[in-house]
Amino acid sequence: MRHTTSRDLYNRALSVLPGGVNSPVRASQPYPAFIERGDGSHVIDADGNRYIDFVAGYGPVLLGHDLPDQVIAAIQSQVSDGPMYGAPTEVEIELAEFIARHVPSIEMVRFVNSGTEATTAAVRLARGYTGRDKVVVMQGGYHGAQESTLVEGDRSEAVPSSPGIPAEFASQTVPVPFNDEAAIEQVFTEQGEDIAAVLTEPILGNRGIVMPQEGYHDTLRALTREHGALLIFDEVMSGFRVGGLGCAQSHFGIEPDLTTLAKVIGGGFPVGAVGGRAEIMESLTPSGDVFEAGTFSGHPVTMTAGLETLRYVAEENVYQHLADLGDEIRSGLVDIVADQAPDYTVTGIDSMFKVIFTRNGAGQEGVCSAGCRQDPDCTQSETCPTDASDVEAAATDRWERVFYHKMREEGVLLTPNQFESQFLTAAHTQEDIEETLEAYKAVL
Ligand SMILES: Cc1ncc(COP(=O)(O)O)c(C=O)c1O
Repeated sequence: MRHTTSRDLYNRALSVLPGGVNSPVRASQPYPAFIERGDGSHVIDADGNRYIDFVAGYGPVLLGHDLPDQVIAAIQSQVSDGPMYGAPTEVEIELAEFIARHVPSIEMVRFVNSGTEATTAAVRLARGYTGRDKVVVMQGGYHGAQESTLVEGDRSEAVPSSPGIPAEFASQTVPVPFNDEAAIEQVFTEQGEDIAAVLTEPILGNRGIVMPQEGYHDTLRALTREHGALLIFDEVMSGFRVGGLGCAQSHFGIEPDLTTLAKVIGGGFPVGAVGGRAEIMESLTPSGDVFEAGTFSGHPVTMTAGLETLRYVAEENVYQHLADLGDEIRSGLVDIVADQAPDYTVTGIDSMFKVIFTRNGAGQEGVCSAGCRQDPDCTQSETCPTDASDVEAAATDRWERVFYHKMREEGVLLTPNQFESQFLTAAHTQEDIEETLEAYKAVL
């Protein structure tokens, strides 16, 4: 495979873009593949190399790279009417109505422009609504590039995970390990009256993929209710990807107080949203006094792309196709891992999957057949990753330095690092899955 054009573009990029990229996850050594165009389930890079794409824009690309004609027509029609006005439009109401109709915990929505903006607004709203400052987050969870959640440490001491963030922000954030009921119970026992919210991804999707153990979310729901705190599900990644139109919360049967959405609901354009009960949502300006605003919020092109994408998904039974392909790739991977890398763990659900290079697997006999589900009866339940630290302890270097590049040479594009989920799109086919499994077989 030739990569000289990507190399030359990276060389140019390094002069004008810090690190050569506009978001650090896109960086890979010695240089990332610069993408020229998409084609269904594939992307083609600047050197003409064609890959089966499992990055899918890091989640937003649900339908693949060729949008259905009706989606393209609606977007083009909106663009030809002028891209934006700075005044309300009907399509914002229609997308909010669609979301509220399908996600039971959501009565009202505030649209913003990214997942980061959504979680920033949700944290401010929770603080403003409850009159409390502390926010509990999961270690290794990711809620975007925002001050309150870029923290590391534990419940006894949290510090900012990036220079540039004042320590005072981290002092109001309490990180706990995902799936650790005792830890969060203790936090509420000690600081329950100060906690505005528990903010968590329903499935950790930025540290491999870690599923919640049975009952974990029920515990979060019960504790937050008991102590007058809000439960915020960050469904930026899982929203309208896991659990179908009801999102991951419907899969787990939990009604959070607030939900953050982004990625899929913009149909491939920049978007974010906070949704929840009207009584809480109406605390936002201008109906309430918790300030939130944005020039581009509810952008008509984005709203149109999101609405038409979700309408298409609802009409065409896209989630069944995605779940079938997801089960197929995960169970294929379980078989390959059993033969070739029994220490590794296959994880995921619906259209998300990942092989985590765990070091201490207990063999594969009797494991969850379509990816780790934290089943207590599974033979691997003692050794499978249950929180972010288990994924951080995996062979992440092997992924980044060798495995990712070899998969590229086989024509399969994965995320450059071990931590991000892989995503299926509606455009992926049986043939793509078979080809991908052959590549894993050759490379693992
Ligand atoms: C769960 C979660 N929350 C928030 C974000 C931040 O979203 P954005 O990159 O759109 O700001 C991400 C991004 O990957 C995410 O996965």
